[in-house]
Amino acid sequence: MSQQDPIQILNDKKAAALLGGGQARIDKQHAKGKLTARERLNLLLDENSFQELGMFVTHRSTDFGMEKQQFLGDGVVTGYGTINGRMVYVFSQDFTVFGGSLSETHAEKICKIMDLAMQNGAPVIGLNDSGGARIQEGVRSLGGYADIFYRNTLASGVVPQISAVMGPCAGGAVYSPAITDFIMMVENTSYMYVTGPNVVKTVTHEEVTHEELGGASAHSAKSGVTHFSCANELECIENIKQLLSYIPQNCEEDAPVYPYTSQADETRSVLNEVLPENTTQPYDMREVIEGIADDNSFLEVHKNYAENIVVGFARIGGRSIGIVANQPAYLAGVLNIDASKKGARFVRFCDAFNVPLLVLVDVPGFLPGTDQEWNGIITNGAKLLYALCEATVPKVTVITRKAYGGAYDVMNSKHIGADLNFAWPSAEIAVMGPKGASEIIFKREIAAAEDPEAKLQEKVDDYTEKFANPYRAAARGFIDEVIQPDQTRSKLIQGFKMLENKVVNLPKKKHGNIPM
Ligand code: HXC
Repeated sequence: MSQQDPIQILNDKKAAALLGGGQARIDKQHAKGKLTARERLNLLLDENSFQELGMFVTHRSTDFGMEKQQFLGDGVVTGYGTINGRMVYVFSQDFTVFGGSLSETHAEKICKIMDLAMQNGAPVIGLNDSGGARIQEGVRSLGGYADIFYRNTLASGVVPQISAVMGPCAGGAVYSPAITDFIMMVENTSYMYVTGPNVVKTVTHEEVTHEELGGASAHSAKSGVTHFSCANELECIENIKQLLSYIPQNCEEDAPVYPYTSQADETRSVLNEVLPENTTQPYDMREVIEGIADDNSFLEVHKNYAENIVVGFARIGGRSIGIVANQPAYLAGVLNIDASKKGARFVRFCDAFNVPLLVLVDVPGFLPGTDQEWNGIITNGAKLLYALCEATVPKVTVITRKAYGGAYDVMNSKHIGADLNFAWPSAEIAVMGPKGASEIIFKREIAAAEDPEAKLQEKVDDYTEKFANPYRAAARGFIDEVIQPDQTRSKLIQGFKMLENKVVNLPKKKHGNIPM
C-alpha cells in the first residue's frame, strides 16, 4: 500500500478547513447578505498578513453523535495579522459550522489569542456571528464563555478590545462584547439580546421582531449598547480600521501620530460665526469640532445615543484627542442620565489608553424631573464627574457659552484637574442663568415693585452684566485665558503640545469605586 504524500495530507486538511461547514452553508450565508468568517478577515487585515492559529482544532464532544460531525477549526477562525501595518489579534466566528456556536474548544481558541494579545500588547478584534452556547455541550460551553468573559475583564484597560457583531449574539454571549471597549453592529443582519422575541412574548406579552428588539438601530439609539451602527459589513470593517487609527496598541503606548505640517496661521475664522446672536438659540457643536480639528478627522462615537452630548475621536495637529462636548442643538445640551453614562465611558477609555481629552462646554445644567431623579441622575451624573476627576491624561476645556451650576464643575473645570481652561468671550459662567438667579435672590424686591416685570428685567440685565461672562472666572484663575473663537485651534495645538509629557501621581489604591 503506497503511503500518502504528507504535504498532500496537509494541503487537503487546509482545503477542508477553509471550507468551514461546506459550500452549501457558505451559499446560505451569502444569501443572507453576510460574508463568511474568512472573507471578513481578508477585508479587515492587510493583504497576506493573517497568520492563523488552531486551524485544525476540533471539538471533543461525543454526545448526540457529535463525534461524527467534525469541522476543522470548530467554528471560529483565530490568529493575528496587521491593519495598516499594526499588529492585531483576531477571532472570527464561522456561522457555517454549527451556527458559529461556542464549544469548549472554540472558546479555548479565542482565549489563546486573547492571552497572546495581553502578553504582547496589541488590540483584540472579535467578529461575532454565533448561535450562542453549543447546545450539545451543555455546561462545558458555558464554562468556555466564562473563560472569555474573565479574559475580557483582565484585558480591559490593557489592550483595546473591539467587537463587531455581524450576526446573532444572544443570551449570555452578549456579555463578552459588552465588556469590550467598542461594539459595532451591522444593520438588518445582526442582533443582540439577552432573551429573544419568543421568550419576550411569553414573559411580557410583547410582540417584537429580532431587529426591533436587538438590532443595530435599537442598540445605537435606544440602549446605547452599540457604539456604531453600520449600513453593511464593509462599512463595519472600515469603521474598525478607522477607529484603530486613533488609539494606541496598549495602555503603555501613545496613539499613532499622523504627519502634519503646521500652517503658520491656524486661525479658523469660521469659528467666529458659529454662535447665534441670541444666546438662547441652539447651534450644532459639531461645527465647533470641525472648526477645531484637522480636516475630516472627527470620528463620532455613539452618534445616535444621548445626542445632547457628542463624543468622539479627532486629530489636532496630527495627534489623537478624545472630544466630549455638550450639544446645544439637542435638549439644549443638558446633562441627563444617558449623556452622563455616555460621556463617562468615553472618558474612561481615553484615560485608560493615553488619549488626551478636550471638553467643549455649553451646558445649561442637569435635566430636572421625576424621571431623572428616580432613575438616578445623582448616581449616573456622578459617573461623568468621577471619570473626569480621575483621568490623568492631558485635559483641556473650552467654554463656548453656558457653564452653569454643577455642570460647570463636572465639565472638566479647573477644580477637578483640567490643565488648561479656555473660554470664549461669549461664555456665561455662573451658578445659574440670569433669569432664574434674579427670580430667587430678588424675589421680594420684584414682588414689591410697581412693575414686577420691569424690575425683573432690570435685575436680569444687572446679573447678566456682572456674572454672565467669563471674566469673574478668569479673575480667579479658573479660566486661564479668554480667547477669540478663531484662535481656538491654534491655542489647542500649542496647549496639547505643552502637555505632552504630563505625569500625575495619584494616591495609592487598589482601584476606585466609581458610582456604578
Ligand atoms: C449548536 C447550533 C446552535 C447552537 C445554531 N446551530 N445554533 N448548533 N448549538 N447554539 C446550528 C443549527 O443546528 C444549524 O445546523 C446551523 O447552526 C444554522 O442554524 P439555523 O437555525 O439553520 O440558522 P438560522 O435559521 O439562521 O437561525 C439562527 C439562530 C438559530 C437564530 C441562531 O440557529 C437559533 O435559534 N439557535 C439557537 C440559539 C440558542 O438558543 N442558543 C443558546 C443560547 S443560550 P445545520 O447543521 O443545519 O447547519 C446561550 C447561553 C450563553 O448562548 C451563556 C453564556 C454565559
